Amino acid sequence: MLSGKRILLIIGGGIAAYKSLDLIRRLKERGALVTPVLTAAGHEFVTPLSVAALAGEKVHSDLFDLTAEAEMGHIQLSRVADLLVVAPATADLMAKMVQGRADDLASTLLLATDTPVLVAPAMNVRMWQHPATQRNLSTLRLDGVSFVGPNDGDMACGEFGPGRMAEPLEIVDAVTRSLGAGPLVGKRVVVTSGPTHEPIDPVRYIANRSSGAQGTAIGAALAALGAEVVFVTGPADVPPPPGVQVVKVKTAREMREAVHAALPADAAVFAAAVADWRVARESRSKIKKIGDGSLPVLTFSENPDILAEVSSLGGDRPELVVGFAAETDDVVAHATAKRDRKGCDWILANDVSPETGIMGGVENAVVLISEAGAETWPRMTKTEVAQRLAARVAQALGSD
Ligand code: CTP
Repeated sequence: MLSGKRILLIIGGGIAAYKSLDLIRRLKERGALVTPVLTAAGHEFVTPLSVAALAGEKVHSDLFDLTAEAEMGHIQLSRVADLLVVAPATADLMAKMVQGRADDLASTLLLATDTPVLVAPAMNVRMWQHPATQRNLSTLRLDGVSFVGPNDGDMACGEFGPGRMAEPLEIVDAVTRSLGAGPLVGKRVVVTSGPTHEPIDPVRYIANRSSGAQGTAIGAALAALGAEVVFVTGPADVPPPPGVQVVKVKTAREMREAVHAALPADAAVFAAAVADWRVARESRSKIKKIGDGSLPVLTFSENPDILAEVSSLGGDRPELVVGFAAETDDVVAHATAKRDRKGCDWILANDVSPETGIMGGVENAVVLISEAGAETWPRMTKTEVAQRLAARVAQALGSD
């Protein structure tokens, strides 16, 4: 997937540097060539020997190394790569990049390069949240630098919060996106995600418990394979994934408009938990308590079924239309009937009965219903379900 792509990997001085060793392996597994650069602080956390052994290439560290300069000048070194990756990027390294300092090999390469730069920050949570680091982050973004992470979690220093370096596979995905590589390059995919909110009056609405986690993971997995993803999301609990075009909506009708506006597309994945009904006559003013004990009566209208509509489109129908089915009993039978009723190509069905713990959890157990029949996937994380689905989408579109 990254075959022949050259990555210049700058390893800064942070405890997360140990993960960079795994990152080198993952990049190489995918066919990338990795030229490693170790900062002076980076030397304190990983040895040049392990880095060189994994990369299969010499480690560069010294700006004034005569032998290295004779082999390849540092300006040339900054230009030979398809992408510069800084992982881990310390607060200090980010500050240096902002200031355009060039007092060691890593900062000089970052200043001299004309190739895209991807940064994976890793630092203590207070350092990350400090206004100085946040200012540097904004400046670097304006300079066109891309970021992956940091993630929330327990930190080596014993604190909790944002600051953990992104995991190696997340960095690999970001590298793939940055390089425009992957089997879905050139393919456009529309993904719906999250719940919808159906208003009762200006302050009240009807919603459902969808967190948007599965749809978000699908958007991320498709983008990681290089797809251009239009991510149409209702008000979800989780933030939209990186590397996608986000369209935020609230109601089912807004979602429908956004989906139609995003077509034509090669594939569409409908992971949203769309409300089946909306309140028939939304009140323009707040419904007041009358005080005589009488209760408001809400009447409902049916929402458009976006999946069924898109499945029955003529020329604009995506080549592959995928729906979801959340069932509590007779999963395969109900989902098979739903596939026929809605006219989509695949249904990913899951059992959401409370004892499965799937609704709101991190895992999912799905059955893929297609023309070929029902295929049961083992229970796995929502991220793994998304990656498996993205790989199948690539296969179906003939682009894996
Ligand atoms: N869906 C949609 N628009 C709607 C309702 C559902 O696009 N108005 C999509 C969902 O995103 C999902 C699939 O249809 O991919 C299945 O939705 P579901 O609510 O389970 O199906 P229903 O038709 O509501 O069937 P039932 O209520 O009988 O389970």
